Amino acid sequence: MSPKRTVILSDSEEDLDRAAALLRDGELVAFPTETVYGLGGDARQGEAVAGIYAAKGRPSFNPLIAHVASSEAARDLVEWHDWAEILSTAFWPGPLTLVLPLKDGHGVSELVTAGLHTLAVRVPAHDTARRLLAKLGGPVAAPSANPSGRISPTTALHVQAGLDGRIAAIVDDGPCSVGLESTIVGLAGEQPMLLRPGGVPAEALEAALHTPLIARNSSDPLTAPGQLMSHYAPRASVRLNAEAAREDELYLGFGPVACDLNLSDSGNLVEAAANLFGHLHQLDGLGRSIAVAPIPDHGLGVAINDRLKRAAAPR
Ligand code: TXA
Ligand code: MG
Repeated sequence: MSPKRTVILSDSEEDLDRAAALLRDGELVAFPTETVYGLGGDARQGEAVAGIYAAKGRPSFNPLIAHVASSEAARDLVEWHDWAEILSTAFWPGPLTLVLPLKDGHGVSELVTAGLHTLAVRVPAHDTARRLLAKLGGPVAAPSANPSGRISPTTALHVQAGLDGRIAAIVDDGPCSVGLESTIVGLAGEQPMLLRPGGVPAEALEAALHTPLIARNSSDPLTAPGQLMSHYAPRASVRLNAEAAREDELYLGFGPVACDLNLSDSGNLVEAAANLFGHLHQLDGLGRSIAVAPIPDHGLGVAINDRLKRAAAPR
């Protein structure tokens, strides 16, 4: 890929018009969502989508999420279900992705689904993302805007550090409020199945559905094609459930503990989720091993622990 000059855009009307025009021209634009920054390309243009895989260095079997402006726009792309209606009404726009069978005439490039017969769709809540989607008037394929396997970006600076010179533009609109990727729900037969824990806790989904979600069978590649074990990896090694740091380690704390950086002094999981990737980026920059305090495994803690396990996995 020949190097490009990556321009930084704001959330002004003029800059978002420019971002939409770049997407229309098949260029790649990173943009903020409430979860993490996404690396967007027009989902209907195969070359643009191929460019996303190339810029990230992403294995080609790992399908992408199509971002759309509304639940109506999602229904133009996928077959709807009763439970999809319940979940989308309760949690869209927001950090929830639904994987459903593709509808005839969907118009989305096969590279988005990596050849599967299902498509992941999401209506983000971030105002800037929604304005950009409305201006384009079509689905935007967007994985997290980081080189494949590295820590996800929650600021424009994180995106720039990983992808500068590989993409046309970055829309900078400050840090992401949720800080963890969306929760992904797919189908097991006719029943909803939790494919990835994320920004909406499973407990909240189950309360809306009045039924437990089916757990993912991690040995079935079709249920989560992209869920590689080593992911979100800092350069440094990561040790989990550490009550304290060893002499050579940096300590990422949770709750009232002495540490180098704290996910949340008050032990608040929402605050910890928002800080997770930013703190990992910061500690990783210091070039020493990282020890992480235990995080309670309920609510958003499930998604935080999922990302931490991947960050600590052998690679
Ligand atoms: O919050 C988010 O979801 C962010 C922002 C940018 O929206 N995006 C994100 O995308 O996390 P990405 O590409 O990093 O993760 C998408 C996940 C992958 O694990 C992929 O395998 C899974 O969604 N996925 C996509 N399409 C799928 C499908 N048809 N069936 C099963 N899993 C799918
Ligand atoms: Mg990702």
